[in-house]
Amino acid sequence: PVTTVPESPAAAIGPTYKDTKPKATVSTPVHHENVHILPQTPQLIALLTMIRDKNTVRADFIFYSNRIIRLLVEEGLNHLPVISHPVTTPTGRIYSGVKFEGKICGVSIMRAGEAMEQGLRDCCRSVRIGKILIQRDEETCKPRLFYDKLPEDIADRFVLLLDPMFATGGSATMAVEVLISRGVPEERILFLNLIASPEGINGFATKFPKLRVITAFVDQGLNEKNYIIPGLGDFGDRYYCI
Ligand code: PRP
Ligand code: URA
Repeated sequence: PVTTVPESPAAAIGPTYKDTKPKATVSTPVHHENVHILPQTPQLIALLTMIRDKNTVRADFIFYSNRIIRLLVEEGLNHLPVISHPVTTPTGRIYSGVKFEGKICGVSIMRAGEAMEQGLRDCCRSVRIGKILIQRDEETCKPRLFYDKLPEDIADRFVLLLDPMFATGGSATMAVEVLISRGVPEERILFLNLIASPEGINGFATKFPKLRVITAFVDQGLNEKNYIIPGLGDFGDRYYCI
C-alpha cells in the first residue's frame, strides 16, 4: 500500500545565491553495482520537475523529456568500451585520446521507448534501431509481447534498450528475455530509463546482475494501479497524444 512507502529523500539543490538553497526531492538511492543514477544536478531536477507537472503542455513535455533523454544517452555511451587513440593536433603535438570500440544498436520498447530513439540518433549517426512491441495489460499490468524486429547481427552488438518508464519491471524483463533469446549476452545490454520504481529496479538488478541500468531517477514507489509515484503519469500518452 502507498502509505507504507517511505518518502524519497530531499536535498539542497543548486548554487547558493541567497542565504539558503531550495530543497528538492532527489532520487531514492539504490545499492546495486549495475544501477547508475544520473547525478542529481539542478538542471536534471528542473527538467524532471517540468515533465512531472500535470500542467505541462505536450510541446514542453516533449522538449524537456528530450533533454533528459540526451543526458541518459550520453551517460549510457560512457559505459561502452574504448581503446587508446592518440591523434596529432594542428599544433603538431600528440594528444593521447580514446575512441569507441565495438558495434552498437538501439532497441526501443514500443510505444514510449520510441521517444528515446532520436536522442540516440543525435549522438550516434545512422545507428541501427530494433523494436519490440510490448504492452502492459491495463487490468492486470502484466506485459504482453506482440512484435519484435531486431538487427540480424544483434548478438554481436552492444544493445541500448530504451524505455522511459520502469514500473513493475515486467515490460523491461520481457524485452531483455527477447534479447537474450537472440544471443545478446546480458553484459552487453544497457537499459536507459527516465524514471524507475524501487521495487522494479531492485528485482531487475538482482535478476540481471551483469546488465547495466542507467536511470535519471528512482522514485518513491508504485500506486494501486502500478503507476510510478509521484511519477509523471502515462509517458506515452503525454509524449504522443495529450
Ligand atoms: C509503459 C512504459 C513501459 C511499461 C512500464 O508502457 O512505457 O513499457 O509501461 O511498466 P512495467 O514496468 O510495469 O512493465 P505501456 O505498456 O503502458 O505502453 P505505451 O508505451 O504504449 O504507453
Ligand atoms: N507506464 C507509464 O507511462 N507510467 C507509469 O507510471 C507506469 C507505466
